Amino acid sequence: MDVYLDPGALADQLATDVRAGLTASPKTLPPKYFYDARGSELFDEITRLPEYYPTRTERAILDEHAQDIAEITRAETLVELGSGTSEKTRLLLRALRATGTLARFVPFDVDPAVLKDASAAVADEFPGLDVQPVVGDFERHLHSLPVSPRRLLAFLGSTIGNLDPAQRAGFLGAVRSTLEVGDAFLLGTDLVKAPSRLIAAYDDAAGVTAAFNKNVLTVVNRDLGADFDPDEFDHVAAWHGEHEWIEMRLRSRQEQAVHIDALDLVVRFARGEELRTEISAKFRRETVERELSAAGLRLTHWWTDPAGDFALSLSVPG
Ligand code: SAH
Ligand code: TRP
Repeated sequence: MDVYLDPGALADQLATDVRAGLTASPKTLPPKYFYDARGSELFDEITRLPEYYPTRTERAILDEHAQDIAEITRAETLVELGSGTSEKTRLLLRALRATGTLARFVPFDVDPAVLKDASAAVADEFPGLDVQPVVGDFERHLHSLPVSPRRLLAFLGSTIGNLDPAQRAGFLGAVRSTLEVGDAFLLGTDLVKAPSRLIAAYDDAAGVTAAFNKNVLTVVNRDLGADFDPDEFDHVAAWHGEHEWIEMRLRSRQEQAVHIDALDLVVRFARGEELRTEISAKFRRETVERELSAAGLRLTHWWTDPAGDFALSLSVPG
């Protein structure tokens, strides 16, 4: 496993980001810290919830079009950013295998635990495939990716929606810089729809998303010696129509003080005060096309499910 981001560097970054976020007003915590081993497990549970339509919808689109994608790209290397369990990705791997072009798979994720399991499972299913997992931060390490001809870079699950517009511009610019002629970028984006369905997808009846959201507090407790009591916070998911994004927050149930030993910091919460943990932006074809184009990427294909809930787009440099 290639490691661009070792646990020590991640811990230093966590310390810097948590101090900045919890001393800001309003308070925030950056989303990549949701994904320790427990967080990745909870996310995997989210993907199977009845309310969480994105995963199964994106899988259905891949089911329908993986062969087209394989024939159009004829990719030799598939790089998957924020790969998680790489479950849906197997549809792409199978199609690329059938086309006869695929030699290498590079899953790339910030969580080494999920990466290790996913790589082993893929290597098992695809004998002879060169599987080269990378632990890294897709906002910082794209320039270090292995370069080889005919790469397909996949970024599924609408994880791009967890970046704000400025972060997306930076990310897409870095994607553009790493791509050469003959490479392609496959992007999964969740689309704007009725707010009631969006809110349900991020506030499920079984409370799995609530547990996932609160897991970030457990990570801060463990890695920075803090004393957050997750039961003293409520999970909140709200639709912000003006930005067309869902905002995930944790609302303090009462006035409380949290101690973060490693930062020598005391953080005070008023009763009802909200800490923002994540956004999940929803897209339209025009906005995806415009953001890609601003980064120097030209959209060549756009596939959706019949209901128009989710989209996969393919783009190329130029
Ligand atoms: N692609 C999978 C998983 C999506 S969940 C799917 O479509 O279901 C988002 C994934 O991105 C998680 O596995 C998480 O660990 C990873 N991730 C989040 N922020 C990251 C970052 N900054 N760099 C690399 N991986 C990141
Ligand atoms: N990329 C996923 C999404 O925006 C991540 C996600 C799903 C998520 N549910 C969540 C992030 C709840 C934070 C909280 O759909």
